[in-house]
Amino acid sequence: MKNKQQDRSTSRSLYRRRFLGTLGGTAVAVGASGLLGAGAAFGQRAGGGRFFVREDRFGRMFPGLPPFASPSPRLNAALMDIGKPGGLLDAKDNLAAGPIALIVDPALSADNPNNPAHSAGTTFVGQFLDHDVTFDLGSRLGVPARPEDSFNTRSPSFDLDSVYGGGPRHSSELYGHERSPIKFKVESGGQFEDLPRRANGTAIIADPRNDENLMIAGLQAAFYLFHNRAVDLVKKRHPRWDDDDIYREAKHLTTWHYQWMIVNEFLPLFIGQRLVEDILYRGRRYYRPPVGFIPVEFQGAAYRFGHTMVRPSYRANITGDKGQPFFGMVFDPAGEGQADPVDLRGGARAPRRFIGWETFSTSARSRVRAVAGRWERTCGRTSSSTRAYRRRSSTCRCVRSPPASRRRRCPSATCCAR
Ligand code: HEM
Repeated sequence: MKNKQQDRSTSRSLYRRRFLGTLGGTAVAVGASGLLGAGAAFGQRAGGGRFFVREDRFGRMFPGLPPFASPSPRLNAALMDIGKPGGLLDAKDNLAAGPIALIVDPALSADNPNNPAHSAGTTFVGQFLDHDVTFDLGSRLGVPARPEDSFNTRSPSFDLDSVYGGGPRHSSELYGHERSPIKFKVESGGQFEDLPRRANGTAIIADPRNDENLMIAGLQAAFYLFHNRAVDLVKKRHPRWDDDDIYREAKHLTTWHYQWMIVNEFLPLFIGQRLVEDILYRGRRYYRPPVGFIPVEFQGAAYRFGHTMVRPSYRANITGDKGQPFFGMVFDPAGEGQADPVDLRGGARAPRRFIGWETFSTSARSRVRAVAGRWERTCGRTSSSTRAYRRRSSTCRCVRSPPASRRRRCPSATCCAR
């Protein structure tokens, strides 16, 4: 069993590297176009001396701090040791048990428990957010590089450049739905919407990382649909506006909704409501650069904590696999080269390859509950799928105004305080 587990981990990390190595030119071109005219300024080091800060480079949040350890073969060996299969960082999930058992039997992931306050989708929203603000295409694994010399190919703000690319003019391949030059192309994988794809399955999107797995591809498609509907809405309200104005307004609406969701829904889950409010009312204490840039402390360390949130397997949807649920490991070496991979990787199209959001989001789950409730009221019976759904639903449900009794029982104050 151990060997099999090791094999899987090794192949998985190889797959990750290969994925990075194969990132297409689209993202680079689009990313660069988003950074034309990037801001720049001098920053002041704590112990004196100045350094250059640019929007299109990484930088340091604490430039005066000495490194924790200097590069050396001994340091490399220590890092390899904590990262090896079975090492300190290995969650030791029993991967051989397969995708279903890994979801229903918490004992198989004893070191890697579920987060009672987060829905499964929170993780992938976190990944999506990262892909909007950081993309290091330049630095090489194991080779020390100065952050100030390393290009960040994403703009360092939540502006959805990973979705919009360079806009309809510079990234016209992304647009053209229903013959509108300002709507995103959306295709279908059979049952629901899918990203536009080339014949080999590669998605035609501004950031190829947003097709790395089914969940993030589903989010990318959701933003396409949101923007396209916003275009319809703006057009209806302002029938005389030209396409440029309609596009700009639809993009504003989409981006503002996204930013609202980050501040009011996402951040409280990640850092706690109290800290969010503290920052909103008192301002930032440490990150106050002359121009916005992404610190390596965030990109290379703090925000990578998101990797620890990824479960070994998920249920992509409840009835998409010929009427059955589609369960899969996030990555399984067996899926390599398969037309419809057994796992949840992106880059392929098939009828079962879509996300049923009720597994991933509490608000989608409440919609299913509402429908299930209507069903019970009208025919007085509980369907087997409703019963199964109830058995599987999580212990903590985020509700706007939970009754005091439920608030006391809920394991997460953050979740229920919202
Ligand atoms: C299935 C889920 C995920 C997979 C397969 C994945 C995979 C990867 C890979 C292959 C890289 C580049 C290699 C590296 O530099 O280590 C990377 C980078 C990164 N990931 Fe993830 N990741 C996932 C989820 C997340 C989540 C949930 C977060 C945060 C909430 C996150 C944050 C980051 C950050 C900040 C980087 C650096 C990006 C850059 O600047 O280039 N990832 N991830």
